[in-house]
Amino acid sequence: MKKKLVVLTGAGISAESGLKTFRDMGGLWENYAIEEVATPEGWEKNPQLVLDFYNERRKQAYLAKPNRAHLVLADLEKEFEVKIITQNVDNLHEKAGSTNVVHLHGELSKVRSVKNPDLIYEVDNKAINLGDLAEDGGQLRPHIVWFGELVPMIEPAADICLDADIFVVIGTSLQVYPAAGLVGYVGNDVPKFVIDPSMPAYSFNTKNVEFIEKTAVEGIDVFLEKLKNL
Ligand code: APR
Repeated sequence: MKKKLVVLTGAGISAESGLKTFRDMGGLWENYAIEEVATPEGWEKNPQLVLDFYNERRKQAYLAKPNRAHLVLADLEKEFEVKIITQNVDNLHEKAGSTNVVHLHGELSKVRSVKNPDLIYEVDNKAINLGDLAEDGGQLRPHIVWFGELVPMIEPAADICLDADIFVVIGTSLQVYPAAGLVGYVGNDVPKFVIDPSMPAYSFNTKNVEFIEKTAVEGIDVFLEKLKNL
C-alpha cells in the first residue's frame, strides 16, 4: 500500500516555468484590476477585456514547460499515491506527467457556455472572442473560477487532504479561500512541508510543519531528501 502524498500548489510552482504569480512584485494583480478581469461583474461590464486577459494567459501557459518541481512530483507517483490539488489554471502538472490533478480554480485550456457550466470545450491555445458561441448558443467564457463564484472541487479536495499521509504546500500565499482552508483538513500528526522562497504567514496549525525556504525548483530536492527519512 503506497503512502498518500498530497500536494497543494499555487502560482509559485509555475514561476520558474516563466508564468507570472499574482501577488509577487510584477505579479498579475499589479497590472490588472482583479474586479475587471476575474469577477462575474467584470465579465458583465466588459466581456471582451476578460476574454483578452485569459486569451493572453492561455497562450503563455500553452508555450510554458513544466519545471523540475512539476517533474519530480510526477516521478514520485512511482513510490507514492500522489494527489495534486492545484489552484493553478495552467496544465504544467499534467504536462509533467502527473495523473491525479484536481484544479480548484479551473483550467485555461478550457472554455464553457455561459448558459450551461457543464458544456465545456478544450481549446488548447485558441483565442476566444465575443460571438464565439457554444452549441447551445451561449457565449463561450473561460472555464475559470472567478472571485465570488463557487469552487465545485473544494469538497473532493478536502476529502483528499483528510486522507493524506504526507502533505506539501508549494508556491501559494494561502490568501485565497476556500483553497487556503484545505490545510486545516490535514491531520495534526501528518508531516507537512512548505516550499516557498518568502515565507508568508501560513495561517495553519504549525504542528509538524517544516518550512523549506527555497524556490520550487531548489526546494523540491530538499523535500526529496526529507521524504527518504519519513
Ligand atoms: N517557487 C516557489 N514559490 C514561489 C516562487 C518560486 N519560484 N516564486 C514565488 N513563490 C511564492 C510566493 O512567495 C507566494 O507565496 O508563490 C506564492 C504566490 O502567491 P500568489 O501570487 O498569491 O499565488 P496563489 O497563492 O497561487 O494565488 C491563489 O489567487 O488570484 C487568485 O485564483 C488565483 O489561484 C490564484 C489564487
